Amino acid sequence: MFKDERGLELTAANADAVAHFNAMINAYLGLRLDTGDHLKALFAADSSMPMAHIVNGYFFKLFCTPVLEAKAKERLASARALGDGATDRERAHIEALDAWCRGDLVGATARWEDILLDHPRDVLALRLAHFTHFYLGASDQMRDSIARVLPYWDETTPGYWFVQGFHAFGLEESGDYAAAEAIGRQAVEKNPEDIWTTHAVAHVYEMQGRHRDGVKWLTDLAPNWGACNNFAYHTWWHLGLYHLELEQFDRVLDLYDTRFRNVESEDYLDITNAIAMLWRLGEQGVDVGDRWRELADKSETKTNDHILAFIDVHYGMALAVEKRFDAADALAASMPKAKFTDTTEAPIYDTVGRPLLGAIIAYEKGDYRRAVELLAPVRYDVRRIGGSHAQRDLFQRLLISAALKADEYRFARALLSERTALNPNGVWGWKRTADALDGLGALDDAARAREAASSLLSDG
Ligand SMILES: [Fe+2]
Repeated sequence: MFKDERGLELTAANADAVAHFNAMINAYLGLRLDTGDHLKALFAADSSMPMAHIVNGYFFKLFCTPVLEAKAKERLASARALGDGATDRERAHIEALDAWCRGDLVGATARWEDILLDHPRDVLALRLAHFTHFYLGASDQMRDSIARVLPYWDETTPGYWFVQGFHAFGLEESGDYAAAEAIGRQAVEKNPEDIWTTHAVAHVYEMQGRHRDGVKWLTDLAPNWGACNNFAYHTWWHLGLYHLELEQFDRVLDLYDTRFRNVESEDYLDITNAIAMLWRLGEQGVDVGDRWRELADKSETKTNDHILAFIDVHYGMALAVEKRFDAADALAASMPKAKFTDTTEAPIYDTVGRPLLGAIIAYEKGDYRRAVELLAPVRYDVRRIGGSHAQRDLFQRLLISAALKADEYRFARALLSERTALNPNGVWGWKRTADALDGLGALDDAARAREAASSLLSDG
């Protein structure tokens, strides 16, 4: 019996296969472009390794596209065929992949968490559970899942700093910004090419409104991302968010064109980054030219994918902004509950996805009151579509903007009071607060809110 570099038993034909497996896992943890190359080398060394088939299935699932969903199921079948010779841990991974292929994200996550009770150094189970907790909007679980295994890791364990980085992101999404920053910065110091942890710290700066710190953080570290996959685009997108808040709109558009919107990309994360940034820019009155068109074109080809509600509402936003309301309405109408029976996403589509997309469509039709009516009742449930607080802030902005445009100033002010209490350093929040106060006739208070925004913009 072979062991991987963290001491877990691994069913393999030879030591070469184990070496390629180790290299592949390290590449995956680093979100590196060469992950697939290591997987190919692994298959060449041992085409019958159960974990090779399982990991290949997992990777297909991570792309969130229908074509690769089918391939994931093929890998599940080939892994099952090898299951008799596998360890209990490897068989548990087969069951996790099975659950994931059936759309049972909760079940898959529970399998990985079970594996971690017996094998706290199974970094693949840990990473995937981190990912699915994220996609379930389960920020406390992101934090706690990592905390549970930390006693079994130390600096001598390969991958230790990646795991510290996962913890940093879980802490950040749970609101413990000081711990997230301290742990994340230490991990990046030890492992500067670790883009996930770099990104975790970037989230801290976003949430605390420390946009100038964020610009420096990402700009200094960007030279380390040359070997990273398209997650680098998402990290450049975060740099764009800082510049957006600083109202450096030309810089945002330059980053859009040169760093994070590769128009060839069909990847859902790349497309949702782009949609989310263009909408924010448009809401702030920035002319974004014809950049929406290719996003709407791509979205129109994906309206029947229905992999995650988070993705679908972004596609619907691109369609609605481009006034392709028939396509956007069709997307909303095709989120039927029945189609997703027995999957984790079914109730999320039903209770959050459809009202949220309805609100987006109403907003783009100019029916702002309807947008508020649809979105306000579910605003505390929006987290269930997954993604980060920074990503979902798109929908909070939409709700505030809709309330202002519908002349619902008291509600807008209430939402903005929540926002400025959490993040007093946000320029957008103070400017919209001023708009709400103007609407309420509180002109002196509005002037003070504008002064707060101006002083944040001129600081530094
Ligand atoms: Fe992010």
